[in-house]
Amino acid sequence: MKIPKYVCAFKGKDFLNTQDFSQEEITQVLDAAKDLKEKFKSRVETPYLAGRTLFMFFYNRSLRTRNSFEAGVYQLGGHAHFLSPQDVYTPTLPEDMVPYKTESISDVARVLSRYGNAIAIRIYGDAAKWVIGRGHRVIEEFARWADVPVFNMEDDLYHPFQALADIMAAREAEPKLQGKKFVVSYAYSGGLKPLAVPQSEVLITTQFGMDVVLAHPKGFELEDSVINAAKENTDRYGGSFKVVNDMKKAFEGADFVYPKAWSPKQFVPPYSKTVDKEGASAYQGKFKDWITTRELLDVTNKAYYMHCGPADRGQEVTNEVLDAYDRSLYFDEAENRLHAQKAVMAMLMG
Ligand code: CP
Repeated sequence: MKIPKYVCAFKGKDFLNTQDFSQEEITQVLDAAKDLKEKFKSRVETPYLAGRTLFMFFYNRSLRTRNSFEAGVYQLGGHAHFLSPQDVYTPTLPEDMVPYKTESISDVARVLSRYGNAIAIRIYGDAAKWVIGRGHRVIEEFARWADVPVFNMEDDLYHPFQALADIMAAREAEPKLQGKKFVVSYAYSGGLKPLAVPQSEVLITTQFGMDVVLAHPKGFELEDSVINAAKENTDRYGGSFKVVNDMKKAFEGADFVYPKAWSPKQFVPPYSKTVDKEGASAYQGKFKDWITTRELLDVTNKAYYMHCGPADRGQEVTNEVLDAYDRSLYFDEAENRLHAQKAVMAMLMG
């Protein structure tokens, strides 16, 4: 078997945020993902991680992430081990320890590093007590103590594997992304969702020199650090970045639209003293007209529709768009999770 050059190219690195990698490095990952996708489709075996184990902690539910990681590592010749945090001694930050119910992340990370080859974590929302940034801190704590790579399978700030799969789908649709208008927009949902996806989308699209417009009602601002990083990306990679408060105006002339829900942050710490889920839901309820319809897509430049899934039908988007719009990338994005994650695992786990 010929091992491709990309295997182990970034051996030992963590994958917590796409911003930790340059555009050139992300492009290398996308090229590896393309190779792995072609081999998967033509049934060429790729046992580049034979005998390796990935430990996966899911503090939250998942369809796409869990199954694409589990299938992916198996297709690379390795094994994925699913860990439900409440079925072990829950890995916990130092301030939240409960004897014999929790175990410090510093210990869990060091123990698992002796059994396997990478640790992946998903944590946001209730599991992170709705304190913005706390889920990310949990993953950083794993990364600090683990001797093996740590992967962010979505926290309360970033969803880097989603961003990778999405930019891969966008490049498949339009090979030259530079200069294309990409809209990341709020869309209504009755559920409370983290900032992770819009933040990672804004970061990766500005990293690829696109003309990025972020649209949301007042009260749905992203973190200042992300806005600043997006602006820095435009200085480094070209393109542009602006924020508007009108969904229809944002959609005008767009080449790609990515409308999805996230939560208004003034109802949760550190922007509020307590977590006020009812207040957040009531505030979201004012913006039910932020829904992606077929008519709204007519003002775009025949835009590709994108969403990480699961999309809330009848809230974020109409059934007509999801089921019958011929420029929807919804299932391509889900599909690319498998190939993008295989690329990262092959390059980092070694
Ligand atoms: N997009 C995404 O992360 O999907 P899951 O919640 O199903 O994993």
